[in-house]
Amino acid sequence: MTTPDTNPSLREGSGAMFDGIAHRYDLVNRVISLGIDQSWRKKTVRALELKPGARVLDLATGTADLAIMIARQHPHVSLVGVDPSAKMLEVGQKKLDAEQLAERIELHVGDAQRLDFPDRSFDGVSIAFGIRNVPDRLQGLREMARVTKAGGRIAILELSEPRGGLLGPLARFHVHSVVPAVGALLSGAKEYHYLQKSIAAFPSARRFESLMREAGLHVVASTALTFGVCHLYVGEPIV
Ligand SMILES: C[S@@+](CC[C@H](N)C(=O)[O-])C[C@H]1O[C@@H](n2cnc3c(N)ncnc32)[C@H](O)[C@@H]1O
Repeated sequence: MTTPDTNPSLREGSGAMFDGIAHRYDLVNRVISLGIDQSWRKKTVRALELKPGARVLDLATGTADLAIMIARQHPHVSLVGVDPSAKMLEVGQKKLDAEQLAERIELHVGDAQRLDFPDRSFDGVSIAFGIRNVPDRLQGLREMARVTKAGGRIAILELSEPRGGLLGPLARFHVHSVVPAVGALLSGAKEYHYLQKSIAAFPSARRFESLMREAGLHVVASTALTFGVCHLYVGEPIV
């Protein structure tokens, strides 16, 4: 029998896990984030500060929501989306075909820890809700630094444990109770329990910023969004 111990591709957060929930991923995303995920993606697009003609790499692209948003907001930008889940990419490809974006966005199966692209080949790199799933995050960040041109931006959007303050307890209740329950109802119980567990296990913003520096990135910005439910980290390769 194959278990996550004997087959690393079945581990939580892997492409194989996302293959199993790909068909419901977009719906669950909108419901559990109350639609706020798209406003976080918009901030991520702005942080890339793209110019016409730019080439962008969207890692852990999944069903391509962020890649699509970048393409729509920047009509003269081309993109490559990479993700280990062929099923998530299949859903993404259908969206690209429907929106006539297939000529501007290529999707490839791949791993953020081992990118099959030359040094300094992209003007911008993005990753939304993906770095949490990359087992060796430092290696993933090093790869981002390697493939980004000097002066290019790297935008990393990731969920985090909501902080204190007036609405902190409400946000925590949402992440700890509502998200796993609604996720289980609409999709897979195991997967949405993992979501909450992996958010809790993700390093603090300060620790993540130092990981970015260790990977050869200058931290341009690190911003808590919506009571700290999400963070947007922006970096540039140190040259
Ligand atoms: C929560 S989804 C995010 C998808 C998309 N970026 C979005 O904004 O909706 C996380 C994605 O990370 C991908 N992933 C898991 N391990 C990865 C790795 N080592 N490298 C790149 N992506 C990975 C999964 O297959 C999944 O599609």
